Amino acid sequence: MSPRKKLIAGNWKMNKTSADAVALAQEIVSAVGKQTEVDVVVCPPYTSLESVAKVLDGSTVKLGAQNVHPEASGAYTGEISVAMLRAFFASSVILGHSERRTYFKETDAFINQKVIASLKGQLRPILCVGETLGERESGSTLRVVQTQLEGGLEGVSKDMATSVVIAYEPVWAIGTGKVATTEQAQEVHAFIRTLLGKLFGETIAQKIRILYGGSMKPQNAPELLAQKDIDGGLIGGASLEARSFLDLVNAAAAVK
Ligand code: PGA
Repeated sequence: MSPRKKLIAGNWKMNKTSADAVALAQEIVSAVGKQTEVDVVVCPPYTSLESVAKVLDGSTVKLGAQNVHPEASGAYTGEISVAMLRAFFASSVILGHSERRTYFKETDAFINQKVIASLKGQLRPILCVGETLGERESGSTLRVVQTQLEGGLEGVSKDMATSVVIAYEPVWAIGTGKVATTEQAQEVHAFIRTLLGKLFGETIAQKIRILYGGSMKPQNAPELLAQKDIDGGLIGGASLEARSFLDLVNAAAAVK
């Protein structure tokens, strides 16, 4: 049995009005809001954080955000700080998602600033790493993942490291329906854990959860979640409907 509790996180991306988000959160809370076997996090857009927070209040389902700015306050038009997220009782934040790396040109150095600011503000970073199809085909997957991981975690102390969650998301599998094979995923997860061991020591590396993301669905989840180093999922498309998201939570609960 894994020493790490499974975590299923829903990344709602730029979907759902506040009313739609509340309806989805209500369905999730009524189905799994009392269970404690699996950690469940939902990450709605900023505009729904407050309304979803109210729905989650008193349940075991936790609130996450999809991004944060590293500065505490100031002239950063359109940005949101760690303290603003904490004010809604958000406990996690997705950082370094490939969509932010690609469309918003986020660098490892900038992502690292967000990781540090989040940890200092008691927000759990879900740091995403992953290679593009071209990088996989040219044999540079592990090098790319290593650069992103080491860059994103620079300056993170051993004390803080257990609060971090890593998400391995091969870019070519995100939203494409192409899922990594269990062997491909496990290979990279094991590699990430080895790197974490080098950075923080073996005991801490064994405590850090590494999620898989990229077209995870109820059909492919049981096999992925059964892998030794896969500790849960970061779910995009399948998190937008209660039925598929709940099936994923149940799949995680079923893995022993
Ligand atoms: P997907 O997205 O499940 O729709 O592939 C995963 C993600 O981008 O976090």
